[in-house]
Amino acid sequence: MRVLGIETSCDETGVALYDTDTGLLGHALHSQVGVHADYGGVVPELASRDHVRRLVPLVERVCAQAGVDRAGIDAVAYTAGPGLVGALLVGAAAAQGFAWARGIPVLAVHHMEAHLLAPMLEPDAPAFPFAALLVSGGHTQLVAVDGPGAYRLLGDTVDDAAGEAFDKTAQLLGLGYPGGPAVARAARAGRTGAFRFPRPMTDRPGLDFSFSGLKTAARHALAGVDGTEQDRCDIARAFEDAVVDTLVLKCRRALGETALHRLVVAGGVGANECLRAALAAIDGVQLHFPRLEFCTDNGAMIAYAGACRLLAGESSPRRIAARPRWPMTELAPFAGVA
Ligand code: KG4
Ligand code: ZN
Repeated sequence: MRVLGIETSCDETGVALYDTDTGLLGHALHSQVGVHADYGGVVPELASRDHVRRLVPLVERVCAQAGVDRAGIDAVAYTAGPGLVGALLVGAAAAQGFAWARGIPVLAVHHMEAHLLAPMLEPDAPAFPFAALLVSGGHTQLVAVDGPGAYRLLGDTVDDAAGEAFDKTAQLLGLGYPGGPAVARAARAGRTGAFRFPRPMTDRPGLDFSFSGLKTAARHALAGVDGTEQDRCDIARAFEDAVVDTLVLKCRRALGETALHRLVVAGGVGANECLRAALAAIDGVQLHFPRLEFCTDNGAMIAYAGACRLLAGESSPRRIAARPRWPMTELAPFAGVA
């Protein structure tokens, strides 16, 4: 079965074609960085309009890449939430239209489940059960994954998501958008220990996170210096060190408390090289990441998550609908991964 995947939840249009027998046949991505850069963050209406412009050409490109024409597609999976409502509706309308015209099933995919399953596209796919650290622009969650679709939330952010904190700190430091990669780049030229930021909520039990204080710490640090390039790099270094240390500590704690020894890391912040290196240094843990391009938003993870649920016998209603907020724990377990 060949499943077309459509991702339009935020500022990237992603399309992919996944074959349940042979794996990924093709994928393409259009990033809206150029659309939003002048505004220092995602402008939802501009995001929706850009998805409208990009989606059909991307589908055509992926079909050509894969050597598959439209008649060779057996189902369509799309991101139904969580995300920006207008952006989600573009993908939902396109997917439902395509599926209706061809008379094929449609699958409304949960964006965070797709992130979580993305490492399954790699040769060393993790076995169940495992713990997952989901770190994106909108989420920072630790999840116990008991089986396909069976998720227990262990910890969540009480304020900003990790990616959001990167983005806001980047803006504060004048590093531009998107913030994560910009802060990481600046941090490379920063001096460790020039500033020291707190490791929020690590001094008490529990697996929740809080990152909004780090952005405030960065603001205070910046106010106390001249704001030279070196100052800003030093602050970026202190910020990244604090986020990485905090995430690593909570991952260790989650693995200890659940007695799990496999850890999946997914979502845009999972592309952060310092985080990847620090997690890799945890003793006795089997670590699984998607390849870098599948850490951030992409169509491949949507096609794959849809394919898993399709194979398990699921399909979604023929209704153009989006769920901007959608707790992952509401999802139903499914029979097995593709
Ligand atoms: O998963 P994603 O592409 O989109 C959402 O679902 O939100 O994650 C985007 C987030 C942004 O906040 C971005 O700044 C962050 O991931 N990000 C990074 C890096 N690359 C992307 N954060 C830290 N270091 C990176 N290298
Ligand atoms: Zn995402």
